[in-house]
Amino acid sequence: MFDFNKVIDRSGTYTEKWDIAEGELPMWVADMELETAPAVKEALIRRASHGIYGYTTVPDEWYDAYISRWKRYGLDIRREDMIYSGGVVAAISSIVRKLTTPAEKVLLLTPTYNIFYNCIVNSGRTVLECPLIYRDGVYTIDRDALGSGLADPQTSLMILCNPQNPTGNIWDRDTLAWIGETAERYGVVVLSDEAHCELTAPGKNYVPFASVSDICRRISVTCLSPAKTFNLAGLQTAAVIVYDSVRRHRVWRGINTDDSGEPNCFAVDAVIAAFTQSDDWLEALRAHIADNRRKAEEFIAKYIPRAHAVRSDATYLLWIDLGYAGRYPAKDIREKTGLFLSEGEIYGKGGEGFVRMNLACPVSQLEDGLARLKAWDETINDDIRL
Ligand SMILES: Cc1ncc(COP(=O)(O)O)c(C=O)c1O
Repeated sequence: MFDFNKVIDRSGTYTEKWDIAEGELPMWVADMELETAPAVKEALIRRASHGIYGYTTVPDEWYDAYISRWKRYGLDIRREDMIYSGGVVAAISSIVRKLTTPAEKVLLLTPTYNIFYNCIVNSGRTVLECPLIYRDGVYTIDRDALGSGLADPQTSLMILCNPQNPTGNIWDRDTLAWIGETAERYGVVVLSDEAHCELTAPGKNYVPFASVSDICRRISVTCLSPAKTFNLAGLQTAAVIVYDSVRRHRVWRGINTDDSGEPNCFAVDAVIAAFTQSDDWLEALRAHIADNRRKAEEFIAKYIPRAHAVRSDATYLLWIDLGYAGRYPAKDIREKTGLFLSEGEIYGKGGEGFVRMNLACPVSQLEDGLARLKAWDETINDDIRL
């Protein structure tokens, strides 16, 4: 019914991902090689055909679309808890500046989304990296390290990536409750970035941080967005949920002061169509990503046994341990094969020797990417490290 294997030529669309040399294959930045849901495309065409693209208000339908959508994940949102934002990253930067003072520490569980570092450092704050434990190919939280990071008197904010980009962890209720209690003890606000939350394997759901307990709800700032799930990153749109009314006022002031809270006229229609009319498409998309993930894992286990593809039930990203090849494997892979992956080191401590591969593509592109990865592996001698 939905053709996720159709190869779509993106040339002429000023696509960042495809701003590459002839013959290269981009599987790096997190947008999909797949068309958005039909209802979203139709809503955008309808809006575009109007011909006037003036300043836009945020209608009731936008609020209702999020509110009813997140009920299915057990998150109760009231309209007054919500703030419109022109993207998750824009909101995070404003929130960092508004809720922390210069030089204070913002805690990250690493490896994590590279742009978090920009949001913190560009705002004159300090990153406190708290590496996840990577053992037997699985990532878990080091509660001792996280506990002392939260207890650091200079830590005032933690950015939680839920689910975690790039490792794909879906954080469970018990872990989230523990984070909430520990953060509250030390007065740390938890910003839960849930940008990837709907891209879970069929039958699996994520847990919204704010849904776990009264404490989590009270100390949380949650960022939600349709951008990853519905391939709308170019529309720059997100929602920020803050339950504590004083903190919400401050977050709203931050976003407003940075002038990043004005709605894009296309984004409003797209969000409504995405969250209210596209369930069957999303179910099919999740199945396609799960198929691609299984294919990639099987291929790597069979043909590149020195590598390890980290198991995951969330995001369309595959996090691959190429530690046997030394530093900067993505750079070497690109130079030798034209396959453009994200370098693990950009995700912070623990990312060294890893690459991130974007699986949200037609199977023919996935196969091309995997074949290039295998060809690269064959150039690496056991005894020669980069
Ligand atoms: C965890 C996470 N948050 C936010 C974003 C970007 O969000 P936005 O485009 O709304 O700024 C990404 C994009 O990859 C992401 O991985």
